[in-house]
Parts: sequence; structure tokens; C-alpha cells
Amino acid sequence: MSADLIDGKAFAAGLRARVASHVPAFKAATGRTPGLAVVLVGDDPASAVYVRSKGKMTREAGMESLEHRLPADARQDDLIELVDQLNADPTVDGILVQLPLPRHLDAEEVLLRIDPEKDVDGFHPVNAGRLATGLPAFVPCTPLGCVMLLEDRLGDLSGLDAVVIGRSNIVGKPMAALLTARSCTVTLAHSRTRNLPHYLRHADIVVAAVGRADFVKGEWLKPGATVIDVGINRVDGGLRGDVDFESAASVAGAITPVPGGVGPMTIACLLRNTLVAAHRRESVPLDERAI
Ligand code: GUN
Repeated sequence: MSADLIDGKAFAAGLRARVASHVPAFKAATGRTPGLAVVLVGDDPASAVYVRSKGKMTREAGMESLEHRLPADARQDDLIELVDQLNADPTVDGILVQLPLPRHLDAEEVLLRIDPEKDVDGFHPVNAGRLATGLPAFVPCTPLGCVMLLEDRLGDLSGLDAVVIGRSNIVGKPMAALLTARSCTVTLAHSRTRNLPHYLRHADIVVAAVGRADFVKGEWLKPGATVIDVGINRVDGGLRGDVDFESAASVAGAITPVPGGVGPMTIACLLRNTLVAAHRRESVPLDERAI
């Protein structure tokens, strides 16, 4: 292995500490703490673990965590009514509806119902459109975390060649938009891309978010590339990323491990977005670029 490890766990801890450091001044200005409401429908065990972890870290940052649980057979109308209540609640700055929802529910309608000013997940089409057109937006937490790690490692990204693998609304598309806004030359590859190694050969930056264990091979990479692995794939031997770590680490300049790379950044960015939402809603000034 010659690549440097990108320590997302340490960076995320620093980010959470920076977020927490702004809470007392917000409280002094408004008399309340920023509030994040998380909605969990059903009892998917992975989602329950994730929601518990969000609640714990929200409280550790000095913010208010409000958890709402609905049964697995909840009706669409009940969920919509809860979102409406949270939209109207002045103590709620951020709303997150944990995905995936049970199959009988329409996630698209729910996400459209969330007030875009409280959409700390950045999943509302208004925020996606704002990101795409360069307006201030709430940016989905995972790609936001990836771009923070990239800028921490590389500084100015301008002019670099980037390949994003995966075109989801949650990671791939916003990732491509963030890198484009930073003047990278971006290729958005996906499951139908015909010759992925051809594109990777020139890539200074690779972001893999395809959901297939060990999909990207080291021999496809440009020597010295910075590799961000968003994948979390459960295989018999444990957790694997979308990048074949061992072969990639002998070619890349830097790479995120799985676990301990991108994963911890997601909740840290959620807290960051909640802090930002609270300041915007209360018109309390905040230097958002410094967080
Ligand atoms: N499920 C897994 N990750 C996420 C996330 O970042 N936001 C939401 N809403 N659901 C998720």
C-alpha cells in the first residue's frame, strides 16, 4: 500500500466540534437551540441504528433531537400530516424522513412536502434545482462530506478531472454538481457506462457510489488519484466498499477506508446543515464557509 488514508472519522469529529462551537451564540441570540426532527417509519433495524446515532450526535453537539416514530403500517396521510406539523413548528429547523420508507408509502410525495428551508437532507427538488443552478442550497449530506474531504486533501479542485460512478439523486447527481461548481471536468459514469477504465485512466478524482462490492479495480486508476469510496456493502467477510481497496491503495495517492471514510461524514454534515438552517431561519449571521 502506498496511498495515504483519508481519515473521515477524524475529520467528521472536527466538523461536529465546529458545529457545536456555534450553538451557544445561536442560543444567546434566539433563546433556543437548533432543532432536528427525524421521522422513522417502521422497524428496519439498519435505519433504527442510524436514527439512534443521529439523535446521540445531535444532542452531543448541543442541539435538540426530536424523534418521531410511526408504525410500519402507517398511512400516507398520517406521514404527510406529521410533516405538515413539523413544517409549522417554529422550534424545528431541520426535518429528515429516514429512507427507505415501507413500500406502500410514496416517498416522493413526502419529500416534496418538506419545507425546502428545513430540508437538511437536500432531497427536495427545490434544493436540487438550487444546487444545479448555483444558488445557495441544502446539499445532500453524503456528497457534501465527500467534497469536504476532497478539498481538505487537495485544496483548490479547479481544472481537475473527476469521475463520479453512480447517478443517484442522493449521491451521484449532487456530487457531479458540486464538483462542476468547483470547476472540475466531471464525467458522470453509471451502470450502463461502456468502458469505465477508459474514463478512470485520466481521473484525478474518483468518487465511487454504485453499491457493488469491490467494483473499481486498482489497475483502472491513474497513479496518484484521490479515491473516495461511498460504498457500504455487506459481504460474508464484513463490510466492503465499492472500490477494491487493496489493489486501489497500491496505485492511488489517497483513499478513504470503509468503514471510517465517508460514513462518519454524513451525520456530521447533517448537523452542519441543521445549524445552517437554524441560522438562516432566525436571520442570525453565520460564516457558512468556515464550518
Ligand atoms: N437513509 C440512509 N441515509 C440516509 C440519509 O442521509 N437521509 C435519509 N433521509 N435517509 C437515509
